[in-house]
Amino acid sequence: MKRWTHSDRIVAPSVLAADFSRIAEECSRAIAAGGDWLHLDVMDGHFVENISFGPAMVEAIHATNDIFLDVHLMITNPDRYLPQFLKAGADLISVHVEADHDLASTLAEIRKAGCLAGLAFNPATPLSEVEPFLDQIDLLLAMTVVPGFGGQSFMPEVMPKVEEAVRLRSERALEFHIEVDGGIDPSTAVAASAAGANVLVAGSSTFKAPDMSAAVRAFRDA
Ligand code: DX5
Ligand code: ZN
Repeated sequence: MKRWTHSDRIVAPSVLAADFSRIAEECSRAIAAGGDWLHLDVMDGHFVENISFGPAMVEAIHATNDIFLDVHLMITNPDRYLPQFLKAGADLISVHVEADHDLASTLAEIRKAGCLAGLAFNPATPLSEVEPFLDQIDLLLAMTVVPGFGGQSFMPEVMPKVEEAVRLRSERALEFHIEVDGGIDPSTAVAASAAGANVLVAGSSTFKAPDMSAAVRAFRDA
């Protein structure tokens, strides 16, 4: 599989906005449209209000294609379920700094399994909470909505944290990607990219677009 760097602009359609009754076709549609990664939102009804899907869905998607799977765990005990998501075929697993776990050991566990490790933080969480872990991650996920549901509005007030993360990354000579998630469409992607995000998660603006290929192309040109 291609080795992506933070100079690549990566478009990651979020399957949360797909038609679950035709999930394999929906994933193929996202790949054919030019999506680079598939973003899979796992929600436990506890860490966030909503319940989405678990490792069985990740495994089913993995079985139908070999696209890079970016798994976003919005669950209270990520360490407890890690083995199942690793086995399901995740290429990258992001865990939340606000969840209840020993973060350093969870991140180490993910990497030990040969998977990339991501660290997610909510709009209300200061960057100082994730700062001590920046040398232990492959991706920093800045939530640009309060997690739980697709279709919410992008919060531009998160951008200063993205800019600061870019500054820390170069100061410390690190290589992690910066991903934005929530309310991303070709126009909000301009602000996010300008701030320094290179991975753009997009649910509604890709899967619900009348022409998904045109939508993904618009992200490339943004
Ligand atoms: C929100 C999820 C997002 C969601 C984004 O809690 O983490 O990944 O799918 O959906 P849109 O792009 O519709 O805001
Ligand atoms: Zn997500």
